[in-house]
Amino acid sequence: MRILITGGAGFIGTNVTLSAIKRGHTVLNVDCLSYAGSLTNLVSIEKHPKYSFEQTDIRDQDKIHNIFENFQPEYIFHLAAESHVDRSIDSAFTVLSTNIMGTCVLLDEFTKYWVKKDCPDNIVFHHISTDEVFGSVKNNIKFNEDTKYDPLNPYSVSKASSDHLVRSWINTHHIPAIITNCSNNYGPYQFPEKLIPLTITNALLGRKIPIYGDGKQIRDWIYVDDHVDALFSVMENGKVGETYMIGSDNECYNIDIVKNICRILDEKVPSDKSYDYLIEYVSDRPGHDRRYAIDASKIINELLWNPQVDIIEGLEKTVDWYLENKEWTSNILKEHKSNVRLGRGYRNN
Ligand SMILES: NC(=O)c1ccc[n+]([C@@H]2O[C@H](COP(=O)([O-])OP(=O)(O)OC[C@H]3O[C@@H](n4cnc5c(N)ncnc54)[C@H](O)[C@@H]3O)[C@@H](O)[C@H]2O)c1
Repeated sequence: MRILITGGAGFIGTNVTLSAIKRGHTVLNVDCLSYAGSLTNLVSIEKHPKYSFEQTDIRDQDKIHNIFENFQPEYIFHLAAESHVDRSIDSAFTVLSTNIMGTCVLLDEFTKYWVKKDCPDNIVFHHISTDEVFGSVKNNIKFNEDTKYDPLNPYSVSKASSDHLVRSWINTHHIPAIITNCSNNYGPYQFPEKLIPLTITNALLGRKIPIYGDGKQIRDWIYVDDHVDALFSVMENGKVGETYMIGSDNECYNIDIVKNICRILDEKVPSDKSYDYLIEYVSDRPGHDRRYAIDASKIINELLWNPQVDIIEGLEKTVDWYLENKEWTSNILKEHKSNVRLGRGYRNN
């Protein structure tokens, strides 16, 4: 298939792009290369005959129009977004503009392309979203496809808005689209300001490891390869107009994630003291959601997708990747010297 991937130079986008090429697809990666996107992630495929890259902002309607006209995609994975809650709290404008208006531009241009007679059959616009649109778990009921939206920070509001836009296009223009909402991802190529790579990076550099509040926020972690597999399952067997929750039933307290990483590092890179002496509790993120949890029964039962990696194995694999790719992290840190956050509690230091 000819697949248009937006945000293919970011964390999940890189893993989707590498996997798409490995699966034999032809890929056009459209990414503006914000602080979170890097072409170094894709050097292994940059000369591959089935891979091409366009540095484009998804809000640039003319360019997006030409991309649809020239590339003639058969499937779209829409991942491009501003993805960091803390950044959205500090400054919401770019997050809202990219996540909402960028999605609007893509839907608009997709629709113009799709109504044409020569548009490929079975084309699908696949919008990749998050479980954060539901806010915190209520009454101990995990998120499912019928859970009411309740986004409570600027990032989750922007993603909820983009989901609503996609549904409104399905309802009013009848476009062939699918939405997936996934839980927290971790694994190779994640920008070192999200919890897991931040912990690994800070520990290896001997820096403090910040933990928000009491560290008892619960997230439902999924190894990025499992998410990528789920996305391809949806591409191959998903039903147009449907929504699928993606999660791998690995709920953990943030503090336990950090302690486990310290334990793994103690084994792999022993130092005088255990790395957990670096843990420092800092003031909580404003409006911090307490618990996210996904009920993935629909995709498991209907599409026969099954996650393969549990949290302990996934953390081991992730730590191994960051240890084997220290140069990747140091290049990112160098490239974004003043733009990598060590955590909200440290912003004034
Ligand atoms: N990371 C997670 O845990 C998670 C979980 C569920 C869903 N998601 C969703 O998956 C998608 C990818 O997340 P990620 O963690 O890989 O994010 P990321 O921040 O690592 O990557 C985002 C990519 O989008 C690009 N981008 C940003 N603004 C753009 C613009 N205006 N035009 C073109 N490209 C732009 C960036 O350059 C970057 O390459 C997002 O839509 C996010 O909401 C993420």
